[in-house]
Amino acid sequence: MDEPINKFRINSSLCPYVFKFDVVSSTNLIAKAFLNYEKPGFIILANTQTTGLGQYGRRWESPRNGLWFTSVFQPTINHEFIGIFPILTSIAVENTLKSLGLDLFLKWPNDILINKTFKKIGGILVESSLTQNIINYILLGIGINANNHIDQFSSALRDGISSILEELKREVNVLDLLREIMYKIEFYIDLLQVKGVDPILENWKKSNNILGKQVSAHIANQEIIGEALDITRHGELVLKTSNSKKVKISTGSISIISL
Ligand code: BTN
Repeated sequence: MDEPINKFRINSSLCPYVFKFDVVSSTNLIAKAFLNYEKPGFIILANTQTTGLGQYGRRWESPRNGLWFTSVFQPTINHEFIGIFPILTSIAVENTLKSLGLDLFLKWPNDILINKTFKKIGGILVESSLTQNIINYILLGIGINANNHIDQFSSALRDGISSILEELKREVNVLDLLREIMYKIEFYIDLLQVKGVDPILENWKKSNNILGKQVSAHIANQEIIGEALDITRHGELVLKTSNSKKVKISTGSISIISL
């Protein structure tokens, strides 16, 4: 396996060790390989990924100058909270990017989009391992188009995505961004431990742009159309279909039909 180009510590009780690589296949894959000999509590960071993984088995383009990392940890929380991690992570990332001056909204479950233009600027891929009711690890793969020019991405993607550089016309320090995101993730995990899922859900509801809208959900080969009503304590999206049936969706991609 490739060797990291750098190993350093950050001020994080959850994930203090960062292994920085130049090129990897996917930081999620390297993180899982590291778990064979490292305890959860580390971050794999890469300058670029050759086969970055997106949701639903899609490819995630990860050119140089973006922020591509995976954090792996073993939280001491009830396993029933595991479904809330995509949402928890998206609010942590959104809070961090908003503080830079970006105007954003969240699309269930964890897309980070630019308000008004609907262009995607970041994505999150959550994986976890449980043995009975014990969480072995949670793996948060986070990708942010940071100091990227749009022409670094393939032409098929360009209309639908943006980057911090394109939006703010300035570069940001990606390591500071990583530290701040990790700080916010820890903050929300602490909140989850003390107050449960309600404050996390409330926070997400403030920033989402789909509740109350007609959406189409694509799950495997099925399409479900309905009004996005709510989000459950396990992070599922509740849709009300045309025959007034309520359907809970735990995974799938969503498109907004009516604005
Ligand atoms: C999505 O499809 O929206 C999720 C994208 C997640 C991309 C990140 S980049 C760092 C980490 N490594 C991967 O291979 N994927 C995630």
